[in-house]
Amino acid sequence: MIQADAEILSVRRDGAYYHMSFAAPGIADGFRPGHFVAIAVDDAHILRRAFSIRSASTKAGGALQIIVSPKGPGTQWLVRRRAGDIINVIAPLGQPFRLPTEPVPCVLVGGGYGVAPLFELANQLRARGCGVEIIVGAGDAARLHGVVEARRVSDAVHVTTDDGSAGEQGRVTDPLRRILAEGRHPAVYACGPMAMLQAVSEVSAEFGAVAQCAVEESMACGVGVCMTCVLPVIGDDGVTRMVRSCTEGPVFFGDRVRWSDVGTVPADTLGSPEARDD
Ligand SMILES: Cc1cc2nc3c(=O)[nH]c(=O)nc-3n(C[C@H](O)[C@H](O)[C@H](O)COP(=O)(O)OP(=O)(O)OC[C@H]3O[C@@H](n4cnc5c(N)ncnc54)[C@H](O)[C@@H]3O)c2cc1C
Ligand code: FES
Repeated sequence: MIQADAEILSVRRDGAYYHMSFAAPGIADGFRPGHFVAIAVDDAHILRRAFSIRSASTKAGGALQIIVSPKGPGTQWLVRRRAGDIINVIAPLGQPFRLPTEPVPCVLVGGGYGVAPLFELANQLRARGCGVEIIVGAGDAARLHGVVEARRVSDAVHVTTDDGSAGEQGRVTDPLRRILAEGRHPAVYACGPMAMLQAVSEVSAEFGAVAQCAVEESMACGVGVCMTCVLPVIGDDGVTRMVRSCTEGPVFFGDRVRWSDVGTVPADTLGSPEARDD
């Protein structure tokens, strides 16, 4: 992980989102799909904001690209930056998606800006001989991101919106269910809202596919110190632990996360206050 002052190279509006590129000397080489960057925003906000790294280029010293959805003060400040401004970044952070050892057909599922880390993942999967289908979903057409790019890096793209304003009306799990029913896809990769990740994990498990999910748990430090980002995850020994999504994640196996208990410390969690009272 490297902390650096990074010069912004471009900020471009892209529908509901902003595409931002910044110089990242020494960082781009270490990037793997699923990694994220923590960016310091204006002086009034102590905490860094986390963003999936969409792509990295290693030419001319290296650069990173991210997709920003302007939401609260930190992201709105960020999208008002201009080429030449300097931001302080820490990257690459977290554990990336694991790639299959065999060339197997894979399904990639992105919700809203959650599709950001999937393009480079698709490139790397195809370079290994894996087939790639991408499902891109959002609440409505305005919040869809990257459909054209998804077509460029995959064998097939399926688009869904909740309101039917683009693609098929429904949830990303509708095409996912149809694809997995073919019985050919052992691997699913997903990034998006927690409810979507839970649904993707459940459908994948139903069809015996292994889902890897990049979670977006609220983060404070982003580097493993504060425990803000913990969520209940079942270990190899069957025991639930509160695990930091910034260091052990953000990518987790979907069948290991106790999705319905996220935001709580389940009573049977190792070291939970309730467990100690027993
Ligand atoms: C691993 C990871 C990857 C992410 N990737 C992207 C991305 O590619 N594009 C994008 O636009 N956003 C992404 N997010 C969400 C982004 O970090 C939040 O939208 C942002 O922190 C909100 O800051 P704010 O000041 O605009 O809003 P506020 O709501 O004012 O944020 C206040 C605080 O709450 C926390 N917070 C609020 N919402 C979130 C959230 N959804 N996730 C995590 N922390 C939150 C932030 O740490 C911040 O310190 C990602 C989050 C994580 C954890
Ligand atoms: S955000 Fe501080 S430990 Fe994960």
